[in-house]
Amino acid sequence: MSQILNDNEIKEFKKNGAIHLKGKFDIKWIEKLKEGIHKAKINPSPRFTNHTKDEKLPSYLEDFWTWNLHEEFTDFVYNSPTAKIASELLDAKKINLVMDNWFFREAGSKSKPPFHHDISYFDFEGSMCVIWIPLEPVKKQDGIAWVKGSHLWNKLFLRTRFNDGHKVDGEAGIVNGKKYEITPDILKNKKDYEFLEWDLEVGDCVYFDIRTLHGALHETTPKSDVNRFTLRMAKENSKIIYRGDWAREERAIMEANGYKNGDDLSGKMFPTLYENY
Ligand SMILES: [Fe+2]
Repeated sequence: MSQILNDNEIKEFKKNGAIHLKGKFDIKWIEKLKEGIHKAKINPSPRFTNHTKDEKLPSYLEDFWTWNLHEEFTDFVYNSPTAKIASELLDAKKINLVMDNWFFREAGSKSKPPFHHDISYFDFEGSMCVIWIPLEPVKKQDGIAWVKGSHLWNKLFLRTRFNDGHKVDGEAGIVNGKKYEITPDILKNKKDYEFLEWDLEVGDCVYFDIRTLHGALHETTPKSDVNRFTLRMAKENSKIIYRGDWAREERAIMEANGYKNGDDLSGKMFPTLYENY
């Protein structure tokens, strides 16, 4: 398979921690993911959540680990350019899927994602990246912003819940041998950070490092429904390493599938999407 990205794109990803890639996805993939989300809303997994507390208000819905429940997601995961691009960004010989999410923000929703980095949410350790792919065109002020270079801070921030109120799980300090801090209040100190944010067309996406801080920077609420799909992918030698108690629900699912602390991120729950040894 020939190279999809050029060297400058790969350098930009490594330096900034996030990159906007234009037009890498054919419209057929976008339509397919939309169909998948439509079906997934009707038939959610046990992990499905509405992050909006007041059920009378426009909702902010999320589900995860649904790649094998809907054929549209399965097809995308295995057959779209996603994993090949991840292999180029991470200099990987092998790419495994670690988690998929879909998000649906209903028109008028005031709920939004807090600033966070994905690395501390689950028991995964290694070199990982995330694809964020909006299924409608999105303007900067309606999208996600990434804190430039934050993947290189060498810090771990506690998990912040997406539910309204954005409660922080656990307490700052050493947990299982690693130091966790409270995420800085980025919204109150915007001038202290440099943000990456883009207008995206259908077929565009953002890839970011699993350690890069990101969240909603602006107060805007969507005027029409918003569908987004994300995947987290890991380079070879990534492992399951237990974090804090906050990850216990996801850990229980992995344990029920036969995984334990220290296992490779591979096998049934974490399929290999790309390999080139
Ligand atoms: Fe995230």
